[in-house]
Amino acid sequence: MSKAQISPSMMCCDFYTLERTLAVFEAEGVEYLHIDVMDGVFVPNYMLGPEYVKMLRKHTQIPMDIHLMVVNPEVKLDWFEPRPGDYVSVHCEATPHIHRAISRIHAAGAKAMLALNPGTPLHAVEELAPELEAVLLMTVDPGFAGQKLIEPCLGKVARLKHWLEEKDYGRIEIEVDGNVNLPNARRMRDAGADIFVAGSSGLFLPDMSMNKAVNNLRQAIS
Ligand code: DX5
Ligand code: ZN
Repeated sequence: MSKAQISPSMMCCDFYTLERTLAVFEAEGVEYLHIDVMDGVFVPNYMLGPEYVKMLRKHTQIPMDIHLMVVNPEVKLDWFEPRPGDYVSVHCEATPHIHRAISRIHAAGAKAMLALNPGTPLHAVEELAPELEAVLLMTVDPGFAGQKLIEPCLGKVARLKHWLEEKDYGRIEIEVDGNVNLPNARRMRDAGADIFVAGSSGLFLPDMSMNKAVNNLRQAIS
């Protein structure tokens, strides 16, 4: 099993504390910054765009984990100027041209992650597995922070992990996104998750320092 990695959900980060928060992430060796991009069509909300990513790049070397919750991501992903070391995730529900989207991510030199909503069956992964570096399993319906874990998604993580190992795709990482609080993170790790998107339930907590929150999460998934 690969090292458990943390990808803070930047839409949960207060702009006012951004500088301090990034300094903690750098010091603690946080692996990615999770960028939730929402277009008001694929999900009923608007969030983060290319300018935000550009701004972050000026202030940090941490690779981006760009989660495109937009229709036809194959047309839009280049706007984010993905780099080697970054992940870009595209939803199989968001385009009839998912293979093209994955090819474009690779053409930009980044790593491709296929994202699945909670209601999407795992067989969506089968045809694309040879092209993927990771699979993102949503553990809530995408669109909003602060939702409750959809319990059957835990079993889905375990079934995906099992299938990947059985088919010799052990190199493909599993990311989980949604209600990754400490107890859920532990259960997701036990089920086989590698990358943990930590938002309002696991990291950006009102009464806790960011150092402590990162350390608690690391401990929960170690
Ligand atoms: C859900 C977003 C998540 C969210 C996770 O659509 O993709 O990244 O911010 O945060 P919490 O911990 O609030 O579920
Ligand atoms: Zn996300």
